[in-house]
Amino acid sequence: MTPNTRSMSLQDKTIWYRGRSFSSACLSCNDFANFSGSHLSTEFGAAPSKKPGMSRRNFLKVMGGVSAVLAAAPFIAGGGQYLIPQVPSKFKEVQIAKTTDVPVNGSTVFWFPFTTDPTYTNMLIHLPPKSAQEAGKEFVAYNRTCIHLQCLVSFLSNSELIGCPCHGSLYRPTDGWPVGGPAAQIGRYLPNVELRVDGDNIYAVNLNLDDIGYGSTTPPSE
Ligand code: FES
Repeated sequence: MTPNTRSMSLQDKTIWYRGRSFSSACLSCNDFANFSGSHLSTEFGAAPSKKPGMSRRNFLKVMGGVSAVLAAAPFIAGGGQYLIPQVPSKFKEVQIAKTTDVPVNGSTVFWFPFTTDPTYTNMLIHLPPKSAQEAGKEFVAYNRTCIHLQCLVSFLSNSELIGCPCHGSLYRPTDGWPVGGPAAQIGRYLPNVELRVDGDNIYAVNLNLDDIGYGSTTPPSE
């Protein structure tokens, strides 16, 4: 395919969001859209409930269990007991920012929970007024792992959407629901980071690891 052909084919791929259109003309522009040729969803209706397939936690439990069995084999042979490592579901809350650190329609990146796993990179978004009204809160936070193939997404202040640079998936900042690109075909929320705002301080309180990455790409079935 020549560059001209690609450009022509992408010109048709436009989605509408709050009366504005976003084209898929390039990957470097601010209005990310689908670059991979997948169908672009234009549906912004009610999102289905979350129904994960094999969850990340269960995946890790299985892998942890396999490791534990291997490690404990000598003890099992001797009639001993072993423990399967558990993936935690509660974390120590962490102050991630001051309310004044992130301007309206801006974002910042933070790590939570603190591990060596790079998929635990999250973004704190200070919603623009209309979105804040819609969401019922000024600040939201999501894990940055794209539900498609796990690239890291970012908040795009120009379009007021969350975008993935790999294949152009787009997500609503109000709740993390995918509205464009291949993620919209999968239909799962970006993992939400629970926040607590206390005066000027914003804390990350919890993150459901079940929602992240591996094994969490099964479309919900109704
Ligand atoms: S759109 Fe493919 S990894 Fe994000």
